Amino acid sequence: MEKRVDKLIENLEERVKFFSQLGVDFIESSSARVEPSVPSLEEQVRSCQKCPLAKGRKNAVPGEGNIHTELMFVGEAPGRDENIQGRPFVGRAGQLLTKIITAMGYKREEVYITNIVKCRPPENRTPHADEIEQCRGYLLDQIKMIQPRVIVTLGRVAVDFFIRSREGMTALRGNFHEYEGIQVMPTFHPAYLIRNESNKIFKKMVWEDMKKVMAFLGKK
Ligand code: URA
Repeated sequence: MEKRVDKLIENLEERVKFFSQLGVDFIESSSARVEPSVPSLEEQVRSCQKCPLAKGRKNAVPGEGNIHTELMFVGEAPGRDENIQGRPFVGRAGQLLTKIITAMGYKREEVYITNIVKCRPPENRTPHADEIEQCRGYLLDQIKMIQPRVIVTLGRVAVDFFIRSREGMTALRGNFHEYEGIQVMPTFHPAYLIRNESNKIFKKMVWEDMKKVMAFLGKK
């Protein structure tokens, strides 16, 4: 009997922890209101001091969107505008990403958008391996709580997180790869499209990739 009660308490504690990671700050029951003690994942990211990027940031950028979504976008790292606002993909590349999402038939707030590292690297340099490693747990927790059906990775750093491959972006993009039962679609980073604006082929390829995602999700 005692063992059963211990097990029940353990289960309950795990559930409270899980809900709090979702950002739920109370749980209603018919007779009680339980305040979880674990800070939400978002708060953990916002106050994170695990790597040197914390020193140079104005705001950490946990990510935003619908935590019940089937579709998640993962970029590289916050840039200048994201660091100022504490929100992902709000600069020029972000505006293009929002257009892509809308063209897919979603509102931006219907999907979830985040990055591999949650703080801006100096001068927007590529995040270092140890920074990615320190930040890893946050993205894994986000994926665990959202359980999307598809993750679209934007650019090389994002695809490398999920897929071990020596292939270049051009070979990896456009095909689904499986990660822990989730379909991962690598595509080019919107900033790359902006840098190569005169070469429409990259934009076309991204759209081809997104059409595969839409078909998989039964969208349009
Ligand atoms: N580039 C990224 O990879 N992420 C952002 O949030 C903004 C620009």
